[in-house]
Amino acid sequence: MFTNLRNKEIIIAVTGGIAAYKTCELVRELTKRGASVHVVMTKNATQFVSPLTFQTLSGHPVIHEMFQLFTGPKIGHIALSDIADQMVIVPATANIIGKIANGIADDFLTTMVMATTVPVLFVPSMNTKMWESKIVQMNIQRLKEAGYELMEPGVGDLACGTKGKGRLPPIPDIIEKMEDIFTEKDLSGERVVVTAGPTIEYIDPVRCITNRSSGKMGYAIAKIARRRGAETTLISGETYLPPPRSDINFVKVRTAIEMKEAVMRFFEDATIIIKAAAVADFRCKKESIKKIKKNDEEDLYVLELEKNPDILGDLGKIKGNRILVGFAAETENLVENAYEKLKKKNLDIIVANNVAKEGIGFGSDMNEVTIIDAQGRVKHVPKMSKEEIANIILDSVKRTIKKRKKREDDWL
Ligand code: CTP
Repeated sequence: MFTNLRNKEIIIAVTGGIAAYKTCELVRELTKRGASVHVVMTKNATQFVSPLTFQTLSGHPVIHEMFQLFTGPKIGHIALSDIADQMVIVPATANIIGKIANGIADDFLTTMVMATTVPVLFVPSMNTKMWESKIVQMNIQRLKEAGYELMEPGVGDLACGTKGKGRLPPIPDIIEKMEDIFTEKDLSGERVVVTAGPTIEYIDPVRCITNRSSGKMGYAIAKIARRRGAETTLISGETYLPPPRSDINFVKVRTAIEMKEAVMRFFEDATIIIKAAAVADFRCKKESIKKIKKNDEEDLYVLELEKNPDILGDLGKIKGNRILVGFAAETENLVENAYEKLKKKNLDIIVANNVAKEGIGFGSDMNEVTIIDAQGRVKHVPKMSKEEIANIILDSVKRTIKKRKKREDDWL
């Protein structure tokens, strides 16, 4: 698993809202990622979930009394603030938001937050009317101005029987936000367009030609690019993957022609284009508008194909200063074939993978690739998760940008 949370000291501060039960799942997920989790609860929070539950899940004692930790030479809340790398208040009620926004420190949790210099993330959850009330919004504004990190609540069914804004955001979104906080924003200012997944070419309304691409590699690149601060657009063929995080501009397409149209719409503004999609090279010359029946004329049994546009090849002709990254799915002579594609399509980087190898590539969470740049430099990346590979590909992109900038500076 690719994560910045491994070996981090995380303080999870739980306040008294019904969503407190969901925090149990968050603690589990964080420990799975190798984080060391310490849970602090307000008195009200203990009415919703027992401290023993959090103690069992985190493997550390849970603090819920102001004077509980006065055992060592250091005062409890200061000791915990000192070891922390990040604090997350989840769920954050209107009450805790109001208290911290106004400098009140009257229990363990609030004094600990007051005494810390590490990032503090608020994950609010409450009734819609409370969330929308003027005073809560004023307090939220104060917290932002004071430099606290905040997530917006989700929209949907609420525990009080109503519908609206106020739900705790999904656990994966909270974890992604925590990862974000630990990630250097070295791609901020870049506008990245990523394509992912297979294209579908229709034979008739129910049949199609497609390929085995799952989209996982492209989705991983979009996720990590966004985490590293790039404005990101993901153009995706049909996949079974959950949609990406909500601050990625997500465009769904089906055919190669649709993908080309979408890419061209975002091309002008892009600084980096990464084409991880498996585009079908051919489409049916005649797409039947009605379902082809078994006893239809025999000439319908033969599929006549015509060539799809080579989207990457076309981009290579007009790329200007943009960094263009392609993929090469190969079954033999990996480096030679990939480098030839790089030259032919005028790319800056090509990522080659051997699609004949078991346990990597199509559908797998793992991949093993060879990254080649325009100077013919070759970097072999051994088998690892697609998110780790995505990060390494983006490192190569970053290096290419730096080298280009240095050349321009030297020339000046
Ligand atoms: N690609 C594209 N449009 C196509 C075909 C491919 O944009 N019609 C892009 C893919 O997204 C990938 C790269 O080109 O980034 C290489 O794809 P690949 O299928 O390996 O190569 P092809 O160019 O199709 O060549 P061949 O099938 O002959 O190996």
